[in-house]
Amino acid sequence: MTTTKFHPEVYTQALTSESVSYASPSNIALIKYWGKHGVQIPKNPSISFTLDTCKTTTKLSYVKREKITDEYELKVILDGKHKPGFEPKIYQFFGRIQSYLPFVKDYEFTIETSNSFPHSSGIASSASGLSALALCLMEMEREMQPEMTLKHFNQKASFIARLGSGSGCRSLEGPLVVWGEHAEIKGSSDLYGVQYPYEINPVFDNYQDAILLVDKGEKPVSSTVGHNLMHNHAYAASRFEQAVVNLSKLIPMLKTGDLDGFVRLVESEALTLHSMMLTSDPYFILMKPNTLHIIDKIWEYRRETGIPVCFTLDAGANVHVLFPDKDKEQVHEFIKNNLSKYCQDNRYIFDSVGSGAIKL
Ligand code: PMV
Repeated sequence: MTTTKFHPEVYTQALTSESVSYASPSNIALIKYWGKHGVQIPKNPSISFTLDTCKTTTKLSYVKREKITDEYELKVILDGKHKPGFEPKIYQFFGRIQSYLPFVKDYEFTIETSNSFPHSSGIASSASGLSALALCLMEMEREMQPEMTLKHFNQKASFIARLGSGSGCRSLEGPLVVWGEHAEIKGSSDLYGVQYPYEINPVFDNYQDAILLVDKGEKPVSSTVGHNLMHNHAYAASRFEQAVVNLSKLIPMLKTGDLDGFVRLVESEALTLHSMMLTSDPYFILMKPNTLHIIDKIWEYRRETGIPVCFTLDAGANVHVLFPDKDKEQVHEFIKNNLSKYCQDNRYIFDSVGSGAIKL
């Protein structure tokens, strides 16, 4: 694992553009990343579906600075409003990427951003936001180094996104992205996400993800704190090994379209993630009573209909409901009629698997 290839070559062209825009989606992990070391190096490999509708759109504008200092100059605008509260995080991100994209010191940046999903919906915008910003910065570098290959562009953009948001490095491509070294996944790396390289059964085409917004409140424990609690966690070592084994098990399921196996594995991963939280020291709970009501109802519906609908969770109370495209109409009805009452303000988002970020 070496980061040397991400240090810049000598730039051969001048930058003449003044802005660049990208839309980058959120993603939902099937095998979860929970626990890291160094600067966002995962303790185990993970794999996620890239989403389609839930995304961040970012316009990055830049003006050459007259006087270059050790400080960065940046301004964050969310939905047209200046948000100084978001700037320290981006400032820290610039510090981390400085040696890979040294021009971040040379410009005054304005980052205009907006999310397709509602504010305080409990959907984290850091994965989509940081991946969109990483792509904008990489587009600047590509202009100055046009001979850069597409492979290098994608790898480095994911590498840069990872330095801002670990899981954000899985948002650039689709439909499935692996992050973290795994012996059976060719090209996989702890440093960046790679498109899942093997056969995917058509049953997963346009796979559906309905996001049930259970709680929009501030989370009692942030992801950063949660990851750190894996350091001295009694079950950490076996959890990290289990994720490796689970990814091996998923490969043939994706190939053959074994949805029974898929459902069991995905739900088990979600509950394992939350069981790591329950058994941290200090322990914490991010699920809410309605999270469990929804899980119960999904199990009942699956038993009664035989439709392979399953749930997964990220670090919060919201429930992602996953199901094949062909069952969409029936499951949407079930969600509207039977699950929406467990959502805060009856809110949910019907999304599906997408193909990654796009330049606008
Ligand atoms: O990227 P982070 O630090 O917000 O961590 C994300 C962790 C989970 O969403 C819980 C799991 C995952 O792999 O996305």
